[in-house]
Formats: sequence, structure tokens, C-alpha cells
Amino acid sequence: MNKKIAVLLSGRGSNFEALAESVAAGRIPGAEIAVVISNREGAPGTARATERGIPAKVIPSKGLEREAYDRQVAAVLREYKVDLVCLAGYMRLLSPFFIAAYRGRILNIHPSLLPAFPGLETQRQALEYGVCLSGCTVHFVDENLDAGPVILQAAVPVLDDDTSETLAERILKEEHRIYTDAVRLVLEGRYRMEGRRVIHLPQAAHRVEVAKEIEKAKVVETTNEAEKSGSQLAAANFGRRSGTGSGIKK
Ligand code: GRF
Repeated sequence: MNKKIAVLLSGRGSNFEALAESVAAGRIPGAEIAVVISNREGAPGTARATERGIPAKVIPSKGLEREAYDRQVAAVLREYKVDLVCLAGYMRLLSPFFIAAYRGRILNIHPSLLPAFPGLETQRQALEYGVCLSGCTVHFVDENLDAGPVILQAAVPVLDDDTSETLAERILKEEHRIYTDAVRLVLEGRYRMEGRRVIHLPQAAHRVEVAKEIEKAKVVETTNEAEKSGSQLAAANFGRRSGTGSGIKK
């Protein structure tokens, strides 16, 4: 069954469109964009979704307390059985409730090389600071603004005659490219965490990791079966072997 992606946006939706193109072209295999959610009425991104035949929901956030709003969004994500949430120009901070519900399954794209220039107007910040390189970052989302573990980055040189607009335009092209790559990597589970570091696994190593996880999961399953059937001796033996392993993580 396809892995289901939800895209949350507030505006233009070019990153959504890039992801939709990539899914359609088979660059993110075994996935579909199940739903697009906007917190703003009239966001062009929702019209783009509708044109593509992807369900688009507007859930207006104005005046709503953060968690109350996020609960409405989470209800739609449950309805569409969403596996991965992609923020793409989504102009709202997520509540701890939402982060906990989808921990490790929320990605964001940001138009700077984080941790430089979080927040808004990043290209203006980059030009004012005078950096020679800027770029974009796809990262996991945690409780803090633009702060979760970095999955992928792309660097873009800042040119002497750049304005915020020209720099943004070149960065956007890279955003579209790396968001696809990051979504694919995460959906394939082709990474492992070392503290904050997201270590990418090459295909072969990935297969070994997955095989190990499958073995662990089998032991846990067998343990559960043994416990169910009331065989205390078998349960005790398997229990010692399986420890606290909880099966496939990603
Ligand atoms: C992008 O630059 C993205 O990095 C930032 O907001 C912008 C959204 O653009 N978070 P779009 O709506 O995807 O075209």
C-alpha cells in the first residue's frame, strides 16, 4: 500500500507542486499525496491541489488557540491515514500535542542553511549579514522554530547583485529538488539517528538494517503469541531475548 503524505501550506504551494510532480514521475516511489491542508482561505496551493485531483481542505486558523487548531488538523490526518506530514510554506507553529502525535514524521523546508537565519525573511537576513553562501534545509520538525535535526541541505552562492527576490528564486529551485530527495529518504527509512545527526544509509546498508529490524520484530511478535497462549516458560525465554525492542521503528 502507498505511504500517504499530507502537505500543510499557507500560500503559493510551489513546494507542494514539486512534491506532487515527483510522486507522479515515480521519483518518490510507493507514495501518494493524500491530502493538502491550508490554514488560510484562498491559498493558491489549495487550488493547485484541486487541479491535480488531490483533496484540499481549508481549516481556517484565525483566532484559534494552537492546540485546538492542531487537533482539527490531526483529525483530518487520521481520516486520510497519513504517514508523513510535509510542511511547505506553512505559516504556523505546531503545538507540543501535534509534535508528539507525529514525532519523527513531520518535515519542513526552510530557505536558508540552518541554523543560520531561522524565521521569516531569510533571504533579506542573509543579504544583510553578508554571507557568501545561502541555501535551503529540509529538517525534522520539533518543538522549536526551524530547529529539528537536519536531513538535507543545498548551498546556493550569494551573488554581488542579488536582491532578496533573485536569491529566493535560485534557492527555491534547490528547495524543490532536495524536498523530494528528503521525502524519499525518510519514507524508505534509509537513515538512522545519532543524537541530532541524521545518518543516511546507502541502499545495501539499509537492507541490512531493515533485515535486523525484521528479525527483532519477529522475536517480539513470537513473544506476544507465546504470552497470549499462556505458555509462561516460552514467554520467559523469548522475553529475555527480545528485551525492550519494539520492532520496526521507521
Ligand atoms: C519556501 O521558500 C519555503 O522554504 C518556506 O516558505 C516558502 C514556501 O513557498 N518555508 P511555496 O509556498 O512552497 O511556493
